[in-house]
Amino acid sequence: MRELRDKVAVVTGGSGGIGLAIGEAMLAEGMKVVLADITEDTLAQAVKEFGRDDVIGIPVDVTNFDSLEALRDKTIEHFGGVHVIVNNAAVGAGAKGSVWEHHLNDWKWSLDVNVMGVINGMNAFIPTLIEQNEGHVVNTSSGNGAYYPIASSGMYPVTKAAVTTLTECLWGQLKEINSEVGASVLLPSSPTPGVLATGIWKAGANRPDRFLRNDPDDNNPRDALAEYRERAAAAGQEVPEAPLSDVADLCIRGIRDDLFWATYPLEGMMEKLDDRYASMKNLSPPEYLREVNLMSAAADERSKQ
Ligand SMILES: NC(=O)c1ccc[n+]([C@@H]2O[C@H](COP(=O)([O-])OP(=O)(O)OC[C@H]3O[C@@H](n4cnc5c(N)ncnc54)[C@H](O)[C@@H]3O)[C@@H](O)[C@H]2O)c1
Repeated sequence: MRELRDKVAVVTGGSGGIGLAIGEAMLAEGMKVVLADITEDTLAQAVKEFGRDDVIGIPVDVTNFDSLEALRDKTIEHFGGVHVIVNNAAVGAGAKGSVWEHHLNDWKWSLDVNVMGVINGMNAFIPTLIEQNEGHVVNTSSGNGAYYPIASSGMYPVTKAAVTTLTECLWGQLKEINSEVGASVLLPSSPTPGVLATGIWKAGANRPDRFLRNDPDDNNPRDALAEYRERAAAAGQEVPEAPLSDVADLCIRGIRDDLFWATYPLEGMMEKLDDRYASMKNLSPPEYLREVNLMSAAADERSKQ
C-alpha cells in the first residue's frame, strides 16, 4: 500500500508499548487509527492524550472472535472503511519453572492471546480486505520465535513461532489468489542497542480470572525488566533502552513497502540463524541454544546449578 494518507488502521494491544508507538507513527503518516485493547482505562487515557479526532479507542478482547468482529464493524461505521489490521496484542504469562512444569493455565492464556488472538484478528478482518482487494496485515511476532528460541523462555517463543509461521502461510496464500492485500511479520527490533521497555515485561499482569493458577503470585506480576537490570548490574552490564519509534517505523515500512520481514537484521541474530540452519542441515544438536541469557531468570538459576 504505497499511499497511507487517509487509510484506516486498527492496532490491537494499542493502549501502550509498541502498539501505541505504531498508532502514533500511523497518525504522523496521515492515517486514521483505531487503538484497541483490553485495558480500557489505559486505552481511554492514551486516546485522550492524542486529543484529535483521527484516532479513537475501542475496547477489545482478542481471545474472543465476536469482540474482533465488533471491532471491525465499529471501525467501518466510524471511519467508513478499514485497510490495515495490526495483530499486536500479546502477554507474557509469567510461567514458572521449565516447560514440563508450567501451569496449564499459563499455556492456555498465552496461546489464547498470542496465537488465537492473531487468528481471530485475521479471520475477522482479512475477508473484508480481500473483498476490496486493498489492505495490509501485520502480525507482531518476535525474534524469539522467528530466528531461534531463547530456550529458557519456552512458552513465549512457542506462541511467537506460531505467529511467524501463520504469517508466512498467509503471505503464500494471498499470493496464490493474486490478492493485492499484503502481509508482514513484525519482529520488534531497533538498530539502537537496548531493550524495548514495555508492559510485556510485567509478566503475569492483568491475568483474567479464567486463567488463575491458585497461586499467590496470580495478582502479583513479576517485573522481569527490573530483575533483568539487577542480573545485568551484577554481571557489570547496563541495560539501555531502544526507542519504540524504531519498531513503529518498521511497521510503517512493512505496510508501505510491502516488506514481509519487518525487522532490523542484527548481526548477532543472523549468526544464530546461520547456526540454527547449519544444525538442521547437518543434523547436529542445537548447541546454539545453550547460551546463558541474562534476560531470563530461569537461565540465571540454571547457570548457578
Ligand atoms: N517489548 C519487547 O521486547 C518485544 C519484543 C518482541 C516482540 N514483542 C511483541 O510486541 C507486541 C506488543 O507488546 P509490547 O512489548 O508493546 O507489550 P505491552 O504489554 O506494552 O503491549 C501488549 C498489549 O496487549 C494488550 N492485551 C493483552 N491481552 C489482550 C487481550 N486479550 N485483548 C486485547 N489486548 C490485550 C495489553 O493490555 C497491552 O496493552 C507483542 O506482540 C509482543 O509479544 C515485544
